[in-house]
Amino acid sequence: MSSASTLEAELPLSLHLRAATRVAHERAETSGFVESLMRGELTVAAYADLAAQHHVIYTALEAAEPFVRSDPAGATMVVEGLRRVPSIERDLETLVGPGWRDEVRVLPATERYAARLREVAGTWVGGYVAHAYTRYLGDLSGGLAVKAILQRAYAVPDEAVNFYTFTSIPKPKLFKDDYRARMDALPFDREERLAVAAEAEVAFGLNTALFAELGAIHLR
Ligand code: HEM
Repeated sequence: MSSASTLEAELPLSLHLRAATRVAHERAETSGFVESLMRGELTVAAYADLAAQHHVIYTALEAAEPFVRSDPAGATMVVEGLRRVPSIERDLETLVGPGWRDEVRVLPATERYAARLREVAGTWVGGYVAHAYTRYLGDLSGGLAVKAILQRAYAVPDEAVNFYTFTSIPKPKLFKDDYRARMDALPFDREERLAVAAEAEVAFGLNTALFAELGAIHLR
């Protein structure tokens, strides 16, 4: 364990997670696929491919909710308004068409991501927290910039950006502050906080690996 992570473990969980994933965030944000997406250089089909991967990933993450809710501490982290699967399904109906379930492909990186989620999020509250933090706070942050680009540069219609539209969260900043306060109130000791931070790094790595596979297909 590095001395940096030892020091970070003294922080509240939200600050610990932010510090522990800072470098990984930069790596994800500057991957070729994400940069090209944000420059408006990809196709709507490339974005639909990402949305299809999101469907598999969020299905695995949100399948953990009954387990997490059955734990008194975990229950505070399951928020109805965050749930993304129904939104992604509506987006794919528009982006790909009514037959999307038979038409989309699942990439190997997505299979690995979903397998990890099934392994840790549905059996360990801290694992769920690490993965939910990585996805939902990201969607409520950079995700809003992605939504704007999809609409402006790719002319993706409103009906296909439900993934980035949190209808019951009108003020993402306030929500994120509240979500961080919930994370900080979890009864996790130092060792548990270190384990959650390590898992969040794994979560970022899984996203970066997915962007690499999407980049190999869609960048030219
Ligand atoms: C287009 C690419 C991205 C951009 C422009 C972006 C931008 C941002 C910005 C500006 C914040 C800070 C928001 C705040 O302080 O409230 C943020 C936070 C965050 N992002 Fe990203 N991001 C991108 C990609 C990603 C990806 C791929 C992930 C992970 C899958 C991710 C996960 C997160 C998380 C977990 C936070 C919360 C950090 C914290 O406060 O603890 N982001 N992002």
